[in-house]
Amino acid sequence: MDLNLRSVRQEYTKKGLSGKNIPDNPFLLFEQWLQEAMEQDVNEPTAMLVGTVSPEGHPATRTVLLKELRNEKFVFYTNYNSRKGRHLQNNPAISLSFVWHELERQVHIEGFAEKIAPEISDEYFHSRPYKSQIGARISPQSQPIPSRFKLMKEFVMESSKWIGRQIERPSNWGGYAVRPTRVEFWQGRPNRLHDRFLYEEQANGNWGVNRLAP
Ligand SMILES: Cc1cc2nc3c(=O)[nH]c(=O)nc-3n(C[C@H](O)[C@H](O)[C@H](O)COP(=O)(O)O)c2cc1C
Repeated sequence: MDLNLRSVRQEYTKKGLSGKNIPDNPFLLFEQWLQEAMEQDVNEPTAMLVGTVSPEGHPATRTVLLKELRNEKFVFYTNYNSRKGRHLQNNPAISLSFVWHELERQVHIEGFAEKIAPEISDEYFHSRPYKSQIGARISPQSQPIPSRFKLMKEFVMESSKWIGRQIERPSNWGGYAVRPTRVEFWQGRPNRLHDRFLYEEQANGNWGVNRLAP
């Protein structure tokens, strides 16, 4: 197959981002951009690429859904024993990247993750569809498994155990809250002269902001 990748290119012309009208706090701008992505029917607007670091120092990424913005932290849910969970246990450094192609925008966040309070995980777990709750109980996320058949068998067996009862959240499933230290907003512009603004946490706890070269 001869794919001509070199000619795949697009001019970014939709919007701009000016230093004059960006807020002091990156959360305000993030919420505004996320709201716009949701209103404008971006596909999977809450999907973010989550980067972690292995004990050997290798980066690893996977897509996860943002579920909440809580006390200026980004919250997502997963299996604490998954590969990402094991990475975070060893090293809480994390990155989150949102790409909203339809709006020619991306946001890159770097910070540190910590497990959220069990009661908050319980509350979210019970708000999920019944079958997703069962799935979270039986899936040893990121582990090798012998077959899909075995997974389905465990799903059926586990489902039968909880008929008429509230399903218990397994202790190895729950949320992480990411406290950001660096948030970069990128808006595509013509001629690859994009707008980039980087917010960085200062020693006094306030945010500093700088325009970056594209
Ligand atoms: C659109 C999308 C949303 C996803 N959302 C989640 C999620 O919220 N939580 C999760 O654990 N995995 C989610 N996944 C699956 C992860 O990408 C990944 O396969 C899984 O978490 C195991 O990753 P790990 O082995 O690196 O720990 C999602 C995948 C996609 C494509």
